[in-house]
Amino acid sequence: MSCFRCVGKTRQNNQTNHSSRRENHTNITSADKVKVDLNLSVNDKKEDESKHDQLSLDVKNLNLKDGVSGDGKVAKTFTFQELEAATGNFRSDCFVGEGGFGKVYKGNIQRINQVVAIKQLDPNGLQGIREFVVEVLTLSLADHLNLVKLLGFCAEGEQRLLVYEYMPLGSLENHLHDLSAGKKPLDWNTRMRIAAGAARGLEYLHDKMKPPVIYRDLKCSNILLGEDYNPKLSDFGLAKVGPIGDKTHVSTRVMGTYGYCAPDYAMTGQLTFKSDIYSFGVVLLELITGRKAIDHRKPAKEQNLVAWARPLFRDRRRFSEMVDPLLEGHYPVRGLYQALAIAAMCVQEQPNMRPVVADVVTALNYLASQKYDPQTHAIQRPRKSSSSSRGSSAGHRRVTSNDSETDRIGD
Ligand SMILES: Nc1ncnc2c1ncn2[C@@H]1O[C@H](COP(=O)(O)OP(=O)(O)OP(=O)(O)O)[C@@H](O)[C@H]1O
Ligand SMILES: [Mg+2]
Repeated sequence: MSCFRCVGKTRQNNQTNHSSRRENHTNITSADKVKVDLNLSVNDKKEDESKHDQLSLDVKNLNLKDGVSGDGKVAKTFTFQELEAATGNFRSDCFVGEGGFGKVYKGNIQRINQVVAIKQLDPNGLQGIREFVVEVLTLSLADHLNLVKLLGFCAEGEQRLLVYEYMPLGSLENHLHDLSAGKKPLDWNTRMRIAAGAARGLEYLHDKMKPPVIYRDLKCSNILLGEDYNPKLSDFGLAKVGPIGDKTHVSTRVMGTYGYCAPDYAMTGQLTFKSDIYSFGVVLLELITGRKAIDHRKPAKEQNLVAWARPLFRDRRRFSEMVDPLLEGHYPVRGLYQALAIAAMCVQEQPNMRPVVADVVTALNYLASQKYDPQTHAIQRPRKSSSSSRGSSAGHRRVTSNDSETDRIGD
């Protein structure tokens, strides 16, 4: 079958140091069933003669094979042949982009008559297999308007592929930082709607899922946009079951993306729901400022978005310096203050000072409901011009416990 011409910008994500995903220390708790199962299934590489069938085993053990969760949601299994046919044998014009786990293709699967995104994992990467299983487990159990739908997977021989609903507008990163020439930047209302939708997706993971899940990889490139810019969180390979009972954190290897990773988690390996809130705050700051979480092209003091923003948070008169110049003054002053206040709370150093996701959702739902009309509002002018260079990035670095001191946030 022929595949569609792939929309969106083809992106080779060379900038991200994906190979630096490494385990430093893992403290297995009985509560963390997914993690326990994963450790059992992927740790012993040598003995793993049946590596090819390992995913089927993991999925089978968790009653997730082709029928998935108790409430009837279905993640189908697809044959490799089917996915080859869907993408014209993974033709280059179906290539959408590439991330840490492999290449992403647009395709059309005849059996389900649906346009899909197919993510092909590196079959030799151990981490890839682990993350593949977590992705299948997490998304199979999840069902929310603001989470990307996993339609199914393929685990044949060495091949590991994930099949998602296709998100026609690509990622938030494409719209915020990789804006192609002539493309209109996101307006204020759309930015607030995206922030509110992403927060609702996170709320579902934290507060509605059983067991609750810590996402660990919240960033602009993992917020995908559907028609009408409806945002959906994607990439759950790093997700962890949250602490239960009177536990406050999960001790684990430090993984995530440099610039988005909470400093407390980066330094201690203690993962909490508030680690996600920090990352969310960074995304919200990116939406407001148009700046990247990390941008090596900027002067030293401005390279880390949170470090740049912190002193500005303290001075209301300088808020207008923070807003994305691409908005050209089209934003509500009150809305800007409120959005910055939410972002500032989310990125606080002390995790217990950060709000819970339900409060973030309430605040952002309100903000998103306050429609700004550029026709009837005065254009805002910054008091001082801010450095506003936008363009292709120096990229995000994955951060792991084993990264060097200078790569650590908070150092
Ligand atoms: N379901 C989807 N629909 C449409 N495009 C998608 C879909 N999933 C991923 N993409 C696109 O494929 C590209 C690669 O995505 P991928 O998630 O593999 O990497 P990433 O998020 O850029 O990096 P990382 O590995 O650090 O998460 C991105 O440009 C993204 O926009
Ligand atoms: Mg991604």
